[in-house]
Parts: sequence; C-alpha cells; structure tokens
Amino acid sequence: MSLSIGPLTPSGFAGEVSGIDLTRPLDPEQVAAIDAGMDRYGVLVFHDQRFDDASQMAFSRYFGELEVSSGAEMSKAQDRRLPRMEMADISNLDRDGKLRAASDRMRLTALGNRLWHSDASFRAVPAKYSLLSARNVPGTGGNTEFADMRAAHDALDEATKAEIEDLITEHSNACSREQIGFMKADYGEENQLKLKPVRHRLVRHDPRTGRKTLYLSAHIGSIVGWPVPEARMLIRDLIEQAVQRRFVYVHVWRQWDLVIWDNRTTMHRARRYNDLTDVRDMRRTTIRGDGVTVAQVQEAA
Ligand code: OGA
Ligand code: MN
Repeated sequence: MSLSIGPLTPSGFAGEVSGIDLTRPLDPEQVAAIDAGMDRYGVLVFHDQRFDDASQMAFSRYFGELEVSSGAEMSKAQDRRLPRMEMADISNLDRDGKLRAASDRMRLTALGNRLWHSDASFRAVPAKYSLLSARNVPGTGGNTEFADMRAAHDALDEATKAEIEDLITEHSNACSREQIGFMKADYGEENQLKLKPVRHRLVRHDPRTGRKTLYLSAHIGSIVGWPVPEARMLIRDLIEQAVQRRFVYVHVWRQWDLVIWDNRTTMHRARRYNDLTDVRDMRRTTIRGDGVTVAQVQEAA
C-alpha cells in the first residue's frame, strides 16, 4: 500500500496519512511526499507508528538538523527523564517514571504549552517541523489544537494586512512564562542569556507555496518601535482572530500517533487533562529552520 493523505477539516487544513511505516527506512520519494503534504496541510497525522527514541530521531533527521530541546537545556541533568538532549520531554513524569507532584517546577513550566505558540520562536533561527509521538495517552483530555496561520492571514482585512506587513516582533521564552506567573529571576543566572528577545517578521512569506503566514506566538512581548501595551494588544487581537474555530484542527490522541506540524505556518496549544492522576507521555523532536526571518534587522540588533 502506498502513502495517501486526506484532509481532516472542511477547509483542508491538517491531513491524515496512511500507507506508511515511519519506523522503517524511507526512500527519497516518501520523504518528498511527506514534505509536499506538510506544505499543503501544515499538520500531518500518522497512526500506529511505534517509535522508540532512536527510531523517532532517525526518522526526524530526514527533514533536517535536530534542535536541542529548550526544556532539556534549561533543566538540570538530574531532573531529566530522557537522556538525549534532542528529545523534548512532553510528559508529566519524573526521571523515575512517577507522576510529577502539583508543585513540581518542571510540571509548572510545562503548563506554558497550553498557551497558543509556535515552537522555539524564541530562537534566532526558529523551528521548522515539530514531531510529537504519543507513547502513552490519558483517558480523557490532553488534546492538541492547531491553528492555520496562512488562512488566518488571508482572512484579515486589507488595511490590517498592509499595516502589519513589515512589522518586526520580539520573542522570548520569558514572555510566555510571564503570562502564567513566572518571573525572569525564576530561571537563575545561568539561563538569563537564553531569555534575551530575538526578532522575527510578523508576516512571513512562504517561498514553497507563495503564501503569507502570520508568525504569532505566546513568546512575543513587543513590536520594534511600538509602545509595549499597544504591541501586546495588537498581538492579542491577532491571536484571537487566528484561533477562531474555522481555522483550528483539534487532535484527539491515540497511543502511537505521530503528528508533525510546521511551526512556520501553524500555531498550537495543549489542552487540559488530569496530569496528577493520568500518565501522558509524549516525546518531541524538532527540526531546525532554514535561517533567521529578518536577516538585516537581526544583524543590526
Ligand atoms: C509541544 C507542545 C502540545 C501538547 O510538544 O511543543 O506544545 O499537546 N505540545 O503536548
Ligand atoms: Mn509546542
């Protein structure tokens, strides 16, 4: 059986793929078909992909260089469950495989994933694809929602499109965490440099499809040249309009699902579940993007 992709929403955002086992070596045509599917759908869902960490990393490398997980980077080795720095631990488990307690620092930091965001937008070279593998899922809740940022851009009125076309935003991990009550000082001296804001275009051009995309994320804290409150209100308005239900695909996880999303053309967020009683073990690999989004501005900063 060969690979086929069908749409998951009426608008054609997000696709469901069948006819491929991603844990086995792929040929270049299969990789090209997945890339083409990503360009078209923004999010691809694969079922029954029984990855372990090594096979997930091997599959991910077909699409580029792997990022080191920011969670792994910012935490102490003795607090980490997964030994490989390229595997982001999107679980509620500690290194002994036990549920994290209510006041556990890593549990609280991970709650930031419930804000709409684009992965690693706080890096100068932000992420291309994220690949999330469901090793264990809770009985209820814990869905992931995805928003189509190309459709969200296209739906803006012409005056707004013109107004925002050349705006430059500043992203930092500190801004998203601030929204859930963390302060910069909570990260310790050694991590302060990693919180330094980076600049990106608010509207990105997608050379593969010729479309424009809104590059929004909870990590945005300011717009270059704008007063902060005004910038934050514009970003809030844009996010609100971008996550209207007609632009959103809700993924209800089954064990062994693998979902790939393109961080350049989509936003996502995790939804609630009872993480004090139910295990949710998800593991993410992330593909580094192809470059900065604002070369000239970045150099001047
Ligand atoms: C992520 C993320 C959402 C989820 O892995 O980057 O935001 O539902 N995950 O766990
Ligand atoms: Mn994420």
